[in-house]
Parts: sequence; structure tokens; C-alpha cells
Amino acid sequence: MKGKLGLLASLVLVCNYFPVATAQGSPNSKNAVVVDGTNFELHGDHVSYRFHVDDSTDDDHPLAGDLLLDHFGGSVFGPIPTELVPSTNGWVGMQGRVRREFPDQGRGDFRIPAIRIRQSEGYTVTRLQYQSNTVVPGKPALPGLPATFGSEEDVTTLVVHLYDKYSDIAVDLSYSVFPKYDAIVRSVNVTNKGDGDITVESLASLSVDLPYQDLDMISLRGDWAREARRERKRVDYGVQSFGSVTGYSSALHNPFLALVDPSTTESQGEAWGFSLVYSGSFEVNVEKGSQGLTRATLGFNPKHLSWKLGPGETLTSPECVSVYSKDGVGGMSRSLHRLYRKHLMKSKFATEDRPVMLNSWEALYFDYDQSTINRVAEEAAAIGAQLFTLDDGWFGVDYPRTDDDAGLGDWVPNPARFPDGLGPLVENITDLKAVNSSTNLRFGIWVEPEMVNPNSSLYREHPDWVLHAGSYPRTETRNQLVLNLALPEVQDFIIDFMSEILNSADITYVKYDNNRGMHEISSPSNAHAYMLGIYRVLDTLTAKFPNVLFEGCASGGARFDPGILSNFPQIWTSDNTDAVDRIFIQLGTSLAYPASAMGAQISSVPNHQTGRSVPVTFRGHVAMMGGMFGLSLDPAAIPEHEQAALPELIALAEKVRPLILKGDMWRLNLPEESNWPAILFISEDGSQAVLFYFQLNPNVNHALPWVKLQGLDSQAMYSVDGNQTYSGATLMNVGLQYEFDGSYGSKVVWFEKQ
Ligand code: GLA
Repeated sequence: MKGKLGLLASLVLVCNYFPVATAQGSPNSKNAVVVDGTNFELHGDHVSYRFHVDDSTDDDHPLAGDLLLDHFGGSVFGPIPTELVPSTNGWVGMQGRVRREFPDQGRGDFRIPAIRIRQSEGYTVTRLQYQSNTVVPGKPALPGLPATFGSEEDVTTLVVHLYDKYSDIAVDLSYSVFPKYDAIVRSVNVTNKGDGDITVESLASLSVDLPYQDLDMISLRGDWAREARRERKRVDYGVQSFGSVTGYSSALHNPFLALVDPSTTESQGEAWGFSLVYSGSFEVNVEKGSQGLTRATLGFNPKHLSWKLGPGETLTSPECVSVYSKDGVGGMSRSLHRLYRKHLMKSKFATEDRPVMLNSWEALYFDYDQSTINRVAEEAAAIGAQLFTLDDGWFGVDYPRTDDDAGLGDWVPNPARFPDGLGPLVENITDLKAVNSSTNLRFGIWVEPEMVNPNSSLYREHPDWVLHAGSYPRTETRNQLVLNLALPEVQDFIIDFMSEILNSADITYVKYDNNRGMHEISSPSNAHAYMLGIYRVLDTLTAKFPNVLFEGCASGGARFDPGILSNFPQIWTSDNTDAVDRIFIQLGTSLAYPASAMGAQISSVPNHQTGRSVPVTFRGHVAMMGGMFGLSLDPAAIPEHEQAALPELIALAEKVRPLILKGDMWRLNLPEESNWPAILFISEDGSQAVLFYFQLNPNVNHALPWVKLQGLDSQAMYSVDGNQTYSGATLMNVGLQYEFDGSYGSKVVWFEKQ
């Protein structure tokens, strides 16, 4: 066996030698994919991904026709050293010792497989062998699923066709390379070419085997009101797994993974980032196998799949973005941010200006009527807000939504609160002039379309529209149940009532909420069928109402994922509006998602979630690091000095907004590591930058730290807040010093390139 593999190794060496475009210059969409026989090279500006087909001619050899990964990391060209053939002493066969590109199951690789199919006969063995490949300019859309997109200039796609001749199953692996972003986006199609039904029990969108080396893994965990806490730990032998079985991506874990060298920091070292473009249950596995190689898989959660395929039917996996950076965790994040702003978010608002919003939730909760709403809207306009949003509590006729145990599903204005409906209310509000602004106040509304309270007319009429498993009791959370979005009639119901609301008045913003996970589902596959349903609804609504700004929400950030961002350019990051907690949450979220996507608001103190009181300027500075800046408070109910500070904070938020929406984010100091968290945003053209600098605890009788900037042009001169001018080199190598009074100090510093 060893002799055969030795021959195989030398063949691979020969096949791997050919000049590629990186030798001549920077890769672009034309030379991003290079195919030479059965050797494949994918190149971004600073990344190469190389794999080949094992060309063992003896079909009995377990690796014959397998795809083997040669390299995923910094750019390479020309020949690369052939991986030494592992010895096969012991019980782990050759398959368990090599870097397999799409590991199937049941034939001796004992690590986590990327695919597990139950054949009609009941077997769960598959043998996927290379057949052919296709290179496609641009990037085909994924049927029914959110996906990155780009022109032929931006992206090239390689599709590798695999086939299991024993059970007639075709698997197509798709790799789309966005060279400018060092991003390779992968997805998988499984097609049943046989005569009987098969069931896909598990399917990873991406599986990658990294060589023997120490690695750390970084993920985001949390719960309600404490989303996106960064977790870093050493990858150990065995499987380290996280995911969601909630039916949505959830606040418990985010569908994001980074693998980094143990020495990697925010600004230096190798980092691989993986981000699953999906909003449903998912699973991430990181397995260091017995031989020390590390396998990572991201994809469907097998507990919510069991997807049946009849003859001729196909299952398409969600796609998974992978990026590589040598510039640390920060470099990895910036690649994802840029890619997502330009090639994921379909909304015209992705990089467009957004209005300053005042939301009624923390101002009034459920306690209001038409005159209260008019009053708060007038106050909003008077302090310079440009959009007033009516949050929960405006609907329900027979089951009025005056608290959270009734009304969801009955999307008709509550006549006791709004006797003339929404029309006159919206007219009244949109007649108000927003001070310091050329526009009138706009109107936005809250909805939670996928949910129903048992106390509702909708539930009385359609109890069968709710997720349920036979006669099992329907488990309530926050007094509500989940509509089964897998049903076309439920999808149509949502599209129709939403269209009716949006056509009924001049509504330019929607907060689209979703406040619980799935309960009893009829079968595991119901979960993905639901996701296909929700994507149809979101696609239809956003296409029908392109001028409406949609904000996703799920009790805060419980559905903060790329699948939602494909349709909605922003998501309410957390129900926790405490500014100190928000620094952790927003910076954690920024590991994978751009600041432009984050909704952030100033609320009143003591904070409603934590009881902490933080100065209004600090609260404002944290909130303006989000793409959608706003307030959730009753302006009349806050102290006068806070009221007086708001117009200036709003003006500052508007000044920094273009950099938040389109600029690059540099996390200079992390709140987990420093008492002085610091974040720098640099404009796309590099001509402007803004520093957000915070002090969390008092610094009594102690020297002051310097904050060193990053990402500037070291040769250029920059004015600092219009005063002193320093070179980029000075700002990055010496830094700046600021003093704060007491705890919770904050500074926003503006830099202009001279
Ligand atoms: C969720 C949202 C909040 C608010 C309430 C209304 O919790 O995250 O912002 O809209 O619902 O019920």
C-alpha cells in the first residue's frame, strides 16, 4: 500500500506544478480559479486554496477519486511540497490520516463527516468520487436561499462534480472566489439520481481539514440581553461542537467560527474566518483527530434535517463564507465586513444614510394611546430625530395587544387606541418638521409576523397554522406560538398583511421582530422547510418595498446572521441598551458583521436591563458606533441636562455615520482586555478617521495609557480634532493620551488627512 501511495505522492508533485497568475500579478476574477487537469487552485489577493483529486488508478483504493486539500492559507504559486504520505500503523486507515475536502461517511474515516445519507435500503455509506468540473464566471444564485452575489468582475465559481456510483447520488461542490476580499464561498448540492427515496441526515456547507498545528477557535456565545460574547479556546483532541437547535440562528451561539494560530492577536497572525449564510438551526464542529489534523465543518444541524429526496430531487445547502487573513482577527473581520456590505446585503440602504430614530419601546412599552404617541413623536422631532417608530402594542381588535399575552397575529390597528386607524396618525407624524433636518419626521412600525398568541382571532381561525406535532401540547414562550412558515398559505398571509400595512400609510421603516425559538415541529425537516418559507417572505417583501428600511430583530440579536443581512441591512443588536454591556456586545458582533448592520440606541438611566447609570455622552458615543443610531426613551422624562445634550450627540452621530456605514473598523483595545476600549473607523478613501475611546473604571492616582492607532498612512499628516497635526506614523507608534473624569468616560476624536 505504501508503494502505491509513494507513486501517488510523486504524481501529485508533478501535477501541482504549473505557473499561476499570482506569479505575474495580483489575482482578479479572470485568474482566481485555475484548473489543471484534476488540480484546482483558487486565489484571492492574499489567499490561496489548493486541492487535487487523488489519482489512484485502482478503484479499490479507498482514496481513489477523493478530493484532497493541499493548502488553505497565504498566497502561493508554483509547486508546493507534497504532503508526506502518512504511515498507517494502527486501526485508523489512510482516509483518517489525510486532508479530505468533502469527507463522506462509513468507509474508515472516523472523523466527523461532511455528509451522511440514508439510502432507501437503509445504508448510511457513501462513496463520492470525482467526475468533472465546471468554471462559471460570476456566481449563480442559490435557489431559495440567501447568498453573496457579484458580477463576473467580482467573482468566479468553480463547481466540482462528485458521484456515488453505488447509490446514484450526485454531489456538486461549489467554490466562489471573491479575490478582493480573500473570500471563498462554498455550498453543496446533493441530487438523488437513483430510483428510490434517500434521506440526507447531515450536510455541511463547508468542511476543511487543516494540517497538524496548534490552533485556537473563536466563537460567539450568549443569551437574551448578553449576545455575542467572544469565546477563545485551544482546539483540543476530540470534537468541539456548538450550534443551534432553536430553529433560528439564536443568541446562544452565532453561526460564525474563527480558527487562529495560538499567537494570533487582533492585529497580527493567521486567522481563518467562517460564516454561515443561514438563519436556522446550524451546527459547527471542530475536530482534532487522532492524527492531530483539524477538521472544521459548518452547516445544517443534523437534528433539524432528515431531508427526503425523491428521484431527481436536489437539496442545496446554505453557503458558507470563508476568509483568510495574516493581519489577525481584525483583518479577518474587515474582509467579512467589506464582503457583506458590498456582496451580501441586497438593500439599497446597505451603505446609504439612515435616519436618526426614536423608538417607542423603552419610552412607553405597552402603555400608550394616540395622544401619547403624538406627544412623544413631537418631542422626537424637536430634539432632531428623523424617524419615529411605533413599537409593540398598536394592533388587535378582539384581542387587543395591551400586554404580551394577546393580539399577535391580528395585524389591524387597535380601535381603542387609534380610532381612525394608522392613516391619520402617520399623516400627523409625517407632517412634523424634524429640527436641524431638511426632512419631515418619518414613520416606522414594529411587527412580529411569524408569531401568534393563542389569544387572537388568527389562532381561533387557524389553529392548524401553528407549529405542532400531533396532539402534543403546544409549548408557549412569552405567551406565544410560532406560525409554520413551511406552509405556503402562512407565507402568503404574512406577505398580504405586511403589504396591506405598508400600502395603508407612508411607512418607511419596519422593525421585523421574532421573539422565540421553534417548539413542537412535525418532523426534523420542518425546520429547513420553515427557513425556505421565511426567505420567500423576506425576498418578496423587500423586493416589493425597496424603499422601506427593514431592521431585523429577534428579542435583540437572536437572529443576527448573514441570512437575515442578505435582506435586511441592519439588525437590532441586543435588547440590552446598557452602554457598557453594549461595547462588549457590539464589538463581539463585529467579529463577523459590519458596524453598519448594527442597530444601537441611547436609552434612559438607570438602564432598564442592568440598573446601571452611565452619562448620556458615553451612551451616545456607544450608540453612534452602530449603522442605525437612535434613541429609545421619552425625551420629556429624562433630566434637563440630558435633553440639552441630545441635539449635539445627534449632530455628531450624523458626522461620523458615513465612516460607520462604509469605513473599515479597527478594534484597537478590547473591553475584555483593557479598561480603555478603543475603536477606530477609517473612511473608504483613507482621508478621514474617527476614534471612539472609553474608560470603564476610574483611574485614580495612576499614569495614563496611550492609545495607538492602526491602519493609517504612516507617511501622511493628520489633523486631530482640527487642532494639532501629527504624522500617521506618530499616531500609530506613539499614540495619543486622554484623561477622563471618574468612570464611564468617553471621547470621540476626529482625524483629517492633510
Ligand atoms: C422584543 C424586541 C424589543 C421590543 C419588544 C416588543 O423583545 O427585541 O425591542 O420590540 O420585543 O415586544
